[in-house]
Amino acid sequence: MSLFDLAMPAMRCLDPETAHRITVRTLGAGLGPVDHSTAPSALRQRIWGLDFAHPVCMAAGFDKSAECWRGLQRLGVGAVEVGTVTPRPQAGNPRPRLFRLPDDRAVINRNGFNNAGLDVAKARLMNRDRRTGIVGINIGANKDTADPVDDYVMGMRQLAPLADYVTINVSSPNTPGLRDLQGEGPLGRLLTAALQVRTEVCREAGPPVLLKIAPDLADGQLQAIVETAVACGVDGLIVSNTTIARPDSLQSRSRSEPGGLSGRPLFSPSTRVLARAFRVAAGRLPLVGVGGIEDGATAYAKIRAGARLVQLYTALVYKGPGLFRRIRDDLAARLAADGLTRIEDAVGLDADRLADG
Ligand SMILES: Cc1cc2nc3c(=O)[nH]c(=O)nc-3n(C[C@H](O)[C@H](O)[C@H](O)COP(=O)(O)O)c2cc1C
Repeated sequence: MSLFDLAMPAMRCLDPETAHRITVRTLGAGLGPVDHSTAPSALRQRIWGLDFAHPVCMAAGFDKSAECWRGLQRLGVGAVEVGTVTPRPQAGNPRPRLFRLPDDRAVINRNGFNNAGLDVAKARLMNRDRRTGIVGINIGANKDTADPVDDYVMGMRQLAPLADYVTINVSSPNTPGLRDLQGEGPLGRLLTAALQVRTEVCREAGPPVLLKIAPDLADGQLQAIVETAVACGVDGLIVSNTTIARPDSLQSRSRSEPGGLSGRPLFSPSTRVLARAFRVAAGRLPLVGVGGIEDGATAYAKIRAGARLVQLYTALVYKGPGLFRRIRDDLAARLAADGLTRIEDAVGLDADRLADG
């Protein structure tokens, strides 16, 4: 257990945004724990031409302005996704905007894409040594933009050359109108424009482009999104962002705060959408599973629902940075217990059962 893990209870006495700031600064200054262990070889995968040492990755929203991606890599994550980065710097919504729901092992955030903007992220990623690990860049639109498509095009133009993969985030609930971009017409226009720019600015094929979607989608909407993504040439889907739903089970004081809910209560709904996306995609797109992962069991369940890779954020708030390694090692044990030798062999094994559930 690292000093960082030991400091977790104290961090939880601070307001959540201050605790997050301290963690980002500490990791950014190179003062975080370092994992020297090697991932079990059964967890290795090559996806989109990238070599993932294992599938347990850091979700977007933790390192919004590319301040501490190197510190996150040192924790031993499979990949780090920085952002969401918007073209211009943005203060986000007024505080408080981040709430712990401890009794539910959840968080509600309505941050509203607070980030330092494209130029700052670019400067921080410019001279990155790509051998230290995989960095994805998640791009979005400014709240007051005249045309959101222009913002994604600008993000792609400036950041694609620096990214191992790019995520197009159309699923944050905290930027008014953003999720409407998941509609078939707007999505087709956005993806066509963004992928066109990727080819213009990158030598050879450019980085893979993933689309991150909401969990709050009816079956018809999900099907249309997957088909549009495939038709436009998107390389993968991230399922899912936070939910605007508020399950009756929530117990914590802050349960009615507006914003996106993440963590344990998101696990079941986001895993169901993942399984449905797996069935619709039918092998045409690799999927990344996110939402409520907090241990080896939940990570393995996402993989069996259809994910090649998994990401997490909220569980870190409750369990600390040693979590990545614990989940990684537990995943390897679960694979072996099922008599499987490679992670790919488990992908989607439970998809049909979960999609119909
Ligand atoms: C405080 C906070 C900020 C987030 N910010 C972003 C963001 O900027 N962009 C994004 O695509 N997702 C963002 N997310 C969503 C996460 O990347 C992830 O999809 C979601 O939290 C579900 O995973 P989890 O249950 O493991 O937290 C944020 C989540 C949290 C908790």
